[in-house]
Amino acid sequence: MNFNIAIIVSFLFLADYGAASQVLDISKFGGAPNSDITQAFANAWKEACESTTAVKIVIPSGTYKLNAIDAKGPCKAPIEIHVDGTIQAPRNQDEIKGDTQWVKFSYMDSLTLSGKGVYDGQGAEVWKQKTGGPAWSGKGKMPKVFMNFGFNFVNNTIVRDITSKDSKNFHVLVFACHNITFDGFTISAPKDSPNTDGIHLGKSTNVKILNTNIGTGDDCVSVGDGTKDLTVQNVNCGPGHGISIGSLGKFTTEENVERVLIKNCTLTDTDNGVRVKTWPNEPATLTITGLHFEDIIMVNVRNPVIIDQEYCPWNQCNKQVPSKIKITKVSFKNIKGTSGTAEGVVLICSSSVPCDGVELNNVDLTFNGTPTVAKCTNVKPIVTGKAPACQAPAA
Ligand SMILES: *[C@@H]1O[C@H](CO)[C@@H](O)[C@H](O)[C@H]1NC(C)=O
Ligand SMILES: *[C@@H]1O[C@H](CO)[C@@H](O)[C@H](O)[C@H]1NC(C)=O
Ligand SMILES: *[C@@H]1O[C@H](CO)[C@@H](O)[C@H](O)[C@H]1NC(C)=O
Repeated sequence: MNFNIAIIVSFLFLADYGAASQVLDISKFGGAPNSDITQAFANAWKEACESTTAVKIVIPSGTYKLNAIDAKGPCKAPIEIHVDGTIQAPRNQDEIKGDTQWVKFSYMDSLTLSGKGVYDGQGAEVWKQKTGGPAWSGKGKMPKVFMNFGFNFVNNTIVRDITSKDSKNFHVLVFACHNITFDGFTISAPKDSPNTDGIHLGKSTNVKILNTNIGTGDDCVSVGDGTKDLTVQNVNCGPGHGISIGSLGKFTTEENVERVLIKNCTLTDTDNGVRVKTWPNEPATLTITGLHFEDIIMVNVRNPVIIDQEYCPWNQCNKQVPSKIKITKVSFKNIKGTSGTAEGVVLICSSSVPCDGVELNNVDLTFNGTPTVAKCTNVKPIVTGKAPACQAPAA
């Protein structure tokens, strides 16, 4: 090797591993490929968490088995977990030792997950057991909830480059987190895998989901109550159920949803595009405000643009009693592409608290080559540019 190249290579190596971080290779704790590294990880985490300088736990290429981990802070310095290998969750229910989250982080500040690695939830066996309808119907058999990742009370965190595959339930739960960014992240599960939502957010602020590809069996991103300052940008979704705000309204403890920007996203063959849903006949009286959807491409999306305040799957509720959730300041701007139905825009707002400040600006969707129509109830959208005018409601 030429001397100059050697210098450049070692410089890159240092830059990649972060000159300031102490590296803890999983092999130091007995973690070897083709073995179960649960205990090795727990030991590495303990050492990392007690370190007063930044630490990087490295899991190199190879395939590893990992049972549930419960990585808790507070820790003394930033921790990065760099995975280049494939980590597999237990395949069967009865092997799972944790509660509801496989790779679980709580009470952390300054956490980074990186690498080209794959976290494989191996959900296929468990998905098969979910048959016969939803759990509450009494007909369905519902296996234990087990999500690939749980971030609970975690701040100033970055998840980049890694892949979440075939989660048994939601891929990622973000709960009570502040300042967490997903960048170059990949989520992958089959179209027919049940309840495999991509990223579900609740009670969290300053969340960014950037440059991410999500293909899964349920919502790509689902935004729960108390989400504030969310940006979803340069994201591809499909297959899946789209990007959803809600469903909201069931619990009086729910908090407002404020300032959500969904920008430059493409949805392909999804059930919904961008959707806001609230339950009728439920107690919560919160506000959803400041939602901006712009530069969105729809490719054969069944319901591309939808606000549904009579959300009531399986007809389990009374639609006569309106939702109490107020929706204000919502803009749909530069939304293009193809719809799987003639109604490209459906805005069904609450009769007790109609939607305010809804704008449609250049919403240009076609169904079988013809422009789609808009259906509007309890809302008078401001329409500019090319966009479907609201049809008079059917008599
Ligand atoms: C995270 O940030 C919140 C809000 O600033 C703070 O109350 C909480 O203590 C922080 N948690 C950690 C683990 O640093
Ligand atoms: C968010 O977290 C990242 C990663 O720790 C950090 O670099 C950035 O400064 C934080 N931003 C804010 C506003 O705290
Ligand atoms: C839009 O997102 C795609 C990825 O889905 C990216 O390649 C492209 O650069 C983005 N465009 C802009 C203007 O940011």
